[in-house]
Amino acid sequence: METKIFSTSEQDIEKAGEIIRSGGLVAFPTETVYGLGANALDSDAVKKIYAAKGRPSDNPLIVHVAKKEDIAPLVKEITPKAQALIDAFFPAPLTVILKKSDIIPDATSGGLDTVAIRMPKNEIARKVIAASGVPVAAPSANTSGLPSPTKAKYVIDDMLGKIDGIIDGGDCEVGVESTVITLATDAPTILRPGAVTKEMLEAVIGEVKISHAVLDELGKNEVAASPGMKYKHYAPKAKVILVNAEKADYESFVNSKTDAFALCFDGDNVKIPRVTYGSEDNDEAQARELFDALRRLDELGAKRVYARMPHKDGVAMAVYNRLIRAAAFQIIDLKKPFTIGLTGGTGAGKGYVCDYLKSLGFNIIDSDLVAREVVQKGSPLLQRLADEFGDDIIANGELDRKLLAGRAFSDKGRTEKLNSIMHPAIIDRCKELANGLTVLDAPQLFEAGAENLCYKIIAVTAPTEIRISRIKSRDGLSDEQARQRIAAQFDDEYYIKHSDFVIINDGREIKAQIDQILAKIF
Ligand code: TXA
Ligand code: MG
Repeated sequence: METKIFSTSEQDIEKAGEIIRSGGLVAFPTETVYGLGANALDSDAVKKIYAAKGRPSDNPLIVHVAKKEDIAPLVKEITPKAQALIDAFFPAPLTVILKKSDIIPDATSGGLDTVAIRMPKNEIARKVIAASGVPVAAPSANTSGLPSPTKAKYVIDDMLGKIDGIIDGGDCEVGVESTVITLATDAPTILRPGAVTKEMLEAVIGEVKISHAVLDELGKNEVAASPGMKYKHYAPKAKVILVNAEKADYESFVNSKTDAFALCFDGDNVKIPRVTYGSEDNDEAQARELFDALRRLDELGAKRVYARMPHKDGVAMAVYNRLIRAAAFQIIDLKKPFTIGLTGGTGAGKGYVCDYLKSLGFNIIDSDLVAREVVQKGSPLLQRLADEFGDDIIANGELDRKLLAGRAFSDKGRTEKLNSIMHPAIIDRCKELANGLTVLDAPQLFEAGAENLCYKIIAVTAPTEIRISRIKSRDGLSDEQARQRIAAQFDDEYYIKHSDFVIINDGREIKAQIDQILAKIF
């Protein structure tokens, strides 16, 4: 098929309208992204959209109108809240879902009893719709699954030869698709965030919910409120991984990468090949540039992309929603204070793992050392311990550890009391010491409740007999003492169940195991 490239002249818009009216497909600019338009009331025309995009036919289309008066025939009823939104916002990057009228064919609504309605702000878009004389079904004008096109050249990349015409109307100013809100359910719910934010909507109609699929991955068998949410989306050919990190941590993280690209904010000090998408504090710029950036990464041949994560408020929620899908929900979270929590029973060989991680540049925090630091001479914690376990546990201002241990470990309740004083103080101090890529070396990681502060947890285990002989020679214990100490700790099964990775220290090559784990984490 020959695809005509149209300008935005009156004659070209007339021609484009005529093509749509007579059952053809024309792509045109809107303020959000380019749309691929067909007569929404003509099933055969609408089916051509699905074919050109390679789109699953159960994913409904948005019906676009040029005037507010054109909405009523498309829906069963314009509810009071719908009317309020139409009055307050239309024309806008906002799509409202209502119960559909009988003139909407199943092909357009994807078989649902609802229809999505939008009146675009972009004047060219409204002129094309008006020229066609029909309501216009228009999804984003990309091949299904790829980033939506924000420039005519990307529409040409995806659609040349597959549709009748493309109107070149320059760059789209919003850059992410319209906000989709359903009013067909009891509570108004945002199914897709966009430039019209939750706050803006709530100012007009009161409480608005956000479908959990906006920010979270759908469960395997979950039905999507908006069918579009279940499909792979916005994804470039490159594998994208989101990195949740402050600027400096992101920079040092990506600058250690080879063979990868950064998708970062303007001004990030990144030394690997990169594409930017707006500045950190400008949500609108991020929205405008994101899809273009994803397409440019493909043009540059990126295979692996580490993307700096935007925040989730206001318009940035739309940016996050698109990027998390482009990344297939893969996130590296460096904002947790500890990148890696390292734990394991006594004698399992954690020390060796720590040394190796240190040699790789990780900041190591030894919780045993911190446990000593927090009860140094004069510390307020020391006095709390004395209040609880007796003043004589302090001698010359120093903690008498043996005496404290004798009293605290005599029964379970006393042990718990000691832990409830010590653990929070130790964790707080460890958090203060965390800096960049940090390993928390903590035998009592789980007992202290620190697991949620770690991005990933690695446990080190070893066969019991190996551990016994290690701690006997290291700590000068008898066989029985060594066995008792091990019996007082979690067993291997516990560590395996609660950790992300387990290193088995039974003579196997440890470094290779660690290298493998790090490759999986990052
Ligand atoms: O900004 C936009 O909305 C662009 C421009 C071209 O107007 N259009 C657009 O259309 O993004 P599309 O088809 O790419 O995305 C429409 C989204 C899909 O996720 C679809 O599942 C959802 O809206 N949708 C459409 N009708 C629906 C309905 N009746 N119920 C629930 N979700 C619906
Ligand atoms: Mg789309």
